[in-house]
Order: sequence, then C-alpha cells, then structure tokens
Amino acid sequence: MSLIKSKKRVADHGEVFTPPWLVDAMLDLVKDEADRIDSRFLEPACGSGNFLVRVLQRKLAAVEIKFGKSDFEKRHYSLYALMCTYGIELLPDNIAECRANMIGVMAEYLNIDENDDMYRAASYVLAQNLVHGDALTMRTQDDQPIAFAEWGYLGKGKFQRRDFRLDVLTGSSAFSAEGTLFSHLGKHEIFIPIRTWPAMTLRDLAIAHDGTPQEAA
Ligand SMILES: C[S@@+](CC[C@H](N)C(=O)[O-])C[C@H]1O[C@@H](n2cnc3c(N)ncnc32)[C@H](O)[C@@H]1O
Repeated sequence: MSLIKSKKRVADHGEVFTPPWLVDAMLDLVKDEADRIDSRFLEPACGSGNFLVRVLQRKLAAVEIKFGKSDFEKRHYSLYALMCTYGIELLPDNIAECRANMIGVMAEYLNIDENDDMYRAASYVLAQNLVHGDALTMRTQDDQPIAFAEWGYLGKGKFQRRDFRLDVLTGSSAFSAEGTLFSHLGKHEIFIPIRTWPAMTLRDLAIAHDGTPQEAA
C-alpha cells in the first residue's frame, strides 16, 4: 500500500497517508470511544479516509454485536454510526475517494446497492458529514462557513438533525475560559444551531439524496 500519491502533493499539502496498523494502534488508545456506536469523530484532514474508514468499521462491529439479530435495528444503528463520523478534506480527489470508501464499507456490511434507500440515505449523510473544504479557514471549497450536522437517533426509525457552524463550535472553548467577556455564558447560549430540522426517516434521507446535485453527493 502506497502512503503517498506524489512528492509534489507531499510538499504542497503534507499528503502522507497513515498505514492501517498505525491507525488501529491510535484508535486503541481511545478504544472505549472507537468501539462505541454514537461517539463522534471528526478528522480535519481526512485524506481518503484511512482513519474514518477504520472508525466506521469498528462502530459497525459494535452494531453487529448489539443489533445484528434485528434487520431494522441493524440498518438504523449502522446509519447512526455513519452519522457520527465527520471529515474535512482540501483536495477534491481525496474527498471523493473518502466518500466512496465509506459508502463501500456500508454497502459491504449491509449488502446493499444504489437501489436501496439505505444506500442513498448513507450517501446523503456522507455528502453532509464529509466536507470538501479547508479546516484552517473553516470554509468550504465554495467559500461558505463549514457547518456540521449533529445527528441523533430518536428510535423507531426517526433521526433528528441540528446544524452548527464549526467556527462557533471551536470558538466556544475560548468563550468559556475563565475571565473572558463570555465566561458567564452558559453552554446553551453558545451552542445555538443555525438550523433545526424536522425528524427524518431513512426514506426521507434517501429522497433528500435523490434531490441533491450529484457532484455534492
Ligand atoms: C498527512 S495527510 C493525512 C490523511 C489522512 N488523515 C490519513 O491519515 O491517512 C493530510 C491530508 O490533509 C489534507 N489537507 C492539507 N491541508 C488541509 C486543510 N487546510 N484542510 C483540510 N485538509 C487539508 C491533505 O490534502 C491530505 O489529504
């Protein structure tokens, strides 16, 4: 397995991929989180997904143990596991590969293809959660502030979504530091979503995918 694509890309973007053994060794350091379905992981320079793919595989192993016997629960908790993985990547080929690698993991685990609502719902989630943008400026490639969806699973096939701006989320630790102008604010005053969505089913997400321009999906 090659860990670089070209010397130029290493020089221009620091693009050196992490080998699988090292990814697993690092995830083992946070094993309780890495093996939990609903722990949230953000990889701010995700490349083609060497970390995120492994995080997803480990979450799906947890889904199998807990919900493997019920097809309904298995599908919904797998989607929820995917909803808890986030990435940002600067280069267009890498973000496309990352999304493709992640959907490949879902497709293999659930034995699904494009004709399945689950596949298209997962593609929609990946289009939201894996952002083509710059983690330093916190802006997308089309110069919008990066926003992430916080997904929740309400049970009985319903998902909840609230969107937050990344620059606000990352700035909140500074806001709450002792002695700052904002230290008196409670978390609830900082964590205000920019959008709250109605509860959605897997089918709603598949329909949303079908209505999304395919370049972004
Ligand atoms: C060292 S590679 C690591 C890739 C992946 N995390 C892994 O471990 O295999 C760094 C990645 O960050 C991307 N990158 C560089 N600057 C970035 C930035 N400002 N925002 C987002 N991604 C960036 C590069 O294109 C490259 O894919």
